[in-house]
Amino acid sequence: MNGYTIAIVGAGLVGERLVSELRRREFPIQELRVLARSARTVEMAGEAFEVGVAEPDAFEGVDFAFFAGTEGEKGAAVQLASEAISRGAVVIDNGSDFRLDDEVPLIVPEVNEDALENHNGLIANANCSTTQMVVTLAPLAKAFGLRKVVVSTYQAVSGSGRGGVEALEDGRDDVYPKQIAGNAIPLIGSIGEDGLSTEERKMVLESRKILSLPGLEVHATTVRIPVHTGHAESIYVEVGRDVELAEVLEVFGSAPGIVFSGEADDFPTPLEAAGESGTFVGRIRVEGNVINYWCVSDNLLKGAATNAVQIAESLVKARV
Ligand SMILES: NC(=O)c1ccc[n+]([C@@H]2O[C@H](COP(=O)([O-])OP(=O)(O)OC[C@H]3O[C@@H](n4cnc5c(N)ncnc54)[C@H](OP(=O)(O)O)[C@@H]3O)[C@@H](O)[C@H]2O)c1
Repeated sequence: MNGYTIAIVGAGLVGERLVSELRRREFPIQELRVLARSARTVEMAGEAFEVGVAEPDAFEGVDFAFFAGTEGEKGAAVQLASEAISRGAVVIDNGSDFRLDDEVPLIVPEVNEDALENHNGLIANANCSTTQMVVTLAPLAKAFGLRKVVVSTYQAVSGSGRGGVEALEDGRDDVYPKQIAGNAIPLIGSIGEDGLSTEERKMVLESRKILSLPGLEVHATTVRIPVHTGHAESIYVEVGRDVELAEVLEVFGSAPGIVFSGEADDFPTPLEAAGESGTFVGRIRVEGNVINYWCVSDNLLKGAATNAVQIAESLVKARV
């Protein structure tokens, strides 16, 4: 086995991180194709690629197809995922089109790797702010049980792709509803009839699916801030019994995927988390059955590319 043939659909911020994570984690690769809307030569993560046009035949011979294009009816995954699957590829989709489909596993490997069993060729990667939250909620759920979660986010502009970075750095004005530089915007996506934004609804529904807790009470307020990369979250959790701070530190200190200094009052920041693949926690406070903490992660890595590559690694491991 000389490695797998990989296609990355999308040459944007997530596509580039997929290249760097596949290389950094030494995923066995025979051929790496990058596909986008137009053919051209690009440099991604220090490598030159002849980008091909994303069309059905471009998936011939592909083992794993990582989708990181745009979402919706005309988006890459809706248009092309089934074409890739019918040609024998396993699709790992970074977008939101299929995440809540009952037939599609929604995977954060530290939390629900088992749900990969019996997939139908399509696996969804979770929303970035949801991923880092469930990495921290899962060990609390296992140790103490969960009753209620209240989260407020502080989300970086790179979460909106290249356009978000241009809005912060160049003043591009068609990405956010109000100026982002020097500001904080408490609306990510659009507001639904229930008053929730698209991003808030993702955090509620995706968390329930990944944690297999369909009735979990989750309240989210999602906010875009003028930070380049790294989403931060303030998380309030009511657990199933009164707990001691030492127990919580022990749980966070030994949970997979969590980076924790061991000090309750330490605090990670987006600048420190950017470029790292873990989920960082700090500012841990405990009162009765309530745990409050701060959680930070790189939205392009654990929030997208790292998690996607971990899913492929889990599939390779299961085949052995
Ligand atoms: N940024 C994050 O933190 C993050 C986290 C989790 C998930 N995601 C999801 O990951 C996906 C990519 O995000 P991004 O931040 O990388 O966006 P981005 O920087 O805006 O890049 C999007 C890329 O997708 C390509 N593309 C768009 N529509 C396509 C189509 N129909 N067929 C083929 N390629 C297409 C574009 O191609 P051209 O260059 O040819 O125009 C571009 O290279 C989105 O679904 C996003 O929601 C992003």
